[in-house]
Amino acid sequence: MYDYICTMELLDGKQLSKILKSEIKQEVEKIMAKGERAPHLAAILVGNNPASQSYVRSKVRSCDEVGFRSTLLHLEENITEKELLEVVERCNTDPELDGFIVQLPLPDHINEQRINLAINYKKDVDGFHPVNFGRMVQGLPAFLPATPFGILMMLDRYHIETEGKNCVVIGRSNIVGQPMSILLSRKAYPGNCTVTLAHSRTKNLSEITRKADIIVAAIGRPNYLKADMVSEGVVVIDVGINRVEDASRKRGYRLVGDVDFENVAPKCSHITPVPGGVGPLTVTGLLLNTLKSYNKEVYI
Ligand code: GUN
Repeated sequence: MYDYICTMELLDGKQLSKILKSEIKQEVEKIMAKGERAPHLAAILVGNNPASQSYVRSKVRSCDEVGFRSTLLHLEENITEKELLEVVERCNTDPELDGFIVQLPLPDHINEQRINLAINYKKDVDGFHPVNFGRMVQGLPAFLPATPFGILMMLDRYHIETEGKNCVVIGRSNIVGQPMSILLSRKAYPGNCTVTLAHSRTKNLSEITRKADIIVAAIGRPNYLKADMVSEGVVVIDVGINRVEDASRKRGYRLVGDVDFENVAPKCSHITPVPGGVGPLTVTGLLLNTLKSYNKEVYI
């Protein structure tokens, strides 16, 4: 008699993003060899939210790594909505800018939806504008939201089977949960899943997650998904990046995901770590969208 031994494979987003970035860099080198300008991404950051500053720094650093031009527009916390709309409009019309993002969250006095709607969808490399979102739903060429796009690349490059699988997405944000559920149910690979979109009002979540072959945890609560909520052999994608206080660390905090990694990982066939899982692929998704914009692959 043999005991069932589940061999868990770590889905290494850091390593995969290195590979994808080197592929992007090669494309940029071909562009430059023809004497053309480099792809150009801009990031608008309002205020001094430490997590947002860190994400934007990582986006700018990644542009440098692949040979993109990047511009960081760091605006004061107390900028008015009208002033921010003017900055957005300048980006919309800059002929040497292929794409830009407005880092979220914005301060409370600014209406995020109004800003999102003001972005030229042809430069919306975050994929948040309703035109891109709607095109994604209908399976038309679109800029896909960077995090779900990164997760698709992860599933693809690790050859994870998705067809006919029960997939549970936890969290219904516009940025991750909603688009992820749509993309995984599409008639495509990765996709063709039977998707359940669970959220804060879902009843008996454990019963649902225990039937899942694939779980995408995007709820923003540290260590939320516990070992007794999953079955043996599950694939777990942890989108959470939560800062929890840790006096033993020099910076005073550590990053933990939405998954109780230590106890869930031994039951998994595949799992993403935090940090080093989904995070690096989000940035790669953004770079790929910018390259697509430069190459006019989505819109003329
Ligand atoms: N805040 C958290 N995630 C994101 C993202 O993917 N894009 C932007 N613009 N803001 C974010």
